[in-house]
Amino acid sequence: MDPVYFDNAATTPVDPDVLETMLPYFTEDFGNADAAHQFGRNCKVAVEDARENIARLLNAEPSEIIFTSGGTESDNAAIKGVYSALSPAGKNEIITSPIEHHAVMHPAESLKRQGAKVIYLKPNSDGIITADQVKEAITDKTAIVSLMHVNNEIGSINPVKEIATVCREAGVPFHSDTVQSVGKIPVDVKELGLNMLSISAHKIYGPKGIGVLYVKNGTPWIPWLQGGSQERRRRGGTSNIPGIVGLAKAMELCWENMEAHTQKFIALRKKIINGLENRFKGKFTINGPKESGVPHILNIGFKTGSSRGLDGEMLLLNLDIEGICVSNGSACTSGATEPSHVLQEVVEDDAITNSSIRISFGKQNSEEEIDFFLDKLEGVLDRMMKVAS
Ligand SMILES: Cc1ncc(COP(=O)(O)O)c(C=O)c1O
Repeated sequence: MDPVYFDNAATTPVDPDVLETMLPYFTEDFGNADAAHQFGRNCKVAVEDARENIARLLNAEPSEIIFTSGGTESDNAAIKGVYSALSPAGKNEIITSPIEHHAVMHPAESLKRQGAKVIYLKPNSDGIITADQVKEAITDKTAIVSLMHVNNEIGSINPVKEIATVCREAGVPFHSDTVQSVGKIPVDVKELGLNMLSISAHKIYGPKGIGVLYVKNGTPWIPWLQGGSQERRRRGGTSNIPGIVGLAKAMELCWENMEAHTQKFIALRKKIINGLENRFKGKFTINGPKESGVPHILNIGFKTGSSRGLDGEMLLLNLDIEGICVSNGSACTSGATEPSHVLQEVVEDDAITNSSIRISFGKQNSEEEIDFFLDKLEGVLDRMMKVAS
């Protein structure tokens, strides 16, 4: 069997239809969208069509869609842009959580070094922050609330609609990192009522290096990346035309197939959990929500009986050798592998945190791959557990 790729929360393969939509913009319609001649005008039309389509899918206005280089840039631009608009008026507090993606936490930390106060709301063991927690934390100094929609490691879904209501009532801009929810579960900006959200194409079968920052009209925000007058002076830089048309196509396909993909992921998840129950009863646990999260992200911790657990890196490497690609969400900092900051926050037992893997499905995965995975996992765990105990 070909290697099994169960790391779709990290990135996905580009859909062939998306690629086909993009190809002419590399070679034939390669113009600069800001040029006044026909090569430029053709590209401008493609960019504005994509913007309109994306706005329609999100139930936003085209003027509220800003193309960026991806989720990281969108998160940075949201947080730093609102903070620079509001901090001169004394609003210097940022409310977020300790299980956000680093693309949110690191900009918040960098603003802290410039005088911001960062308030981290504690998630429950399912990775959820409630609207009441946000309500309690907001003060007249709050500049922005930034809380993710779906967590990339454990798949929990925050109640962003309720959080947005609390923020709106308090007059505080609310940004949500929707990188893992857009294209997977319904995201309608009017229904959710948030001010800003971040999108990344490569998580939804689109290309890498392109994303969107949605900024609701009227949100206090100063453009972050300055340069040319692209994106109505809100994001300098020559437009990535193949990326932009690819993102719009990827979103369109995800919207069309959302229900079918969801049903597929539910079936794959059920099969894998049944298989784990049959083979490893009592020896594994699901980190984060058992039922209420997104179906395509499953985080499993293995119980070894030893206080340190398994070596997570070795577990990944051994699975890789066997042709299984998963992740453990850990970060490699200065050469040393740190356990995942998300699991450290929501899982009490360090041995489980160390011995966890994240499985994330994509539309290309199959039931046969689950059987293959379970067989290989059994062999790897058998060997590793003997060493650990
Ligand atoms: C929740 C979340 N936010 C932001 C990002 C960063 O997106 P990008 O890779 O497009 O910069 C990721 C990617 O891993 C993510 O999962």
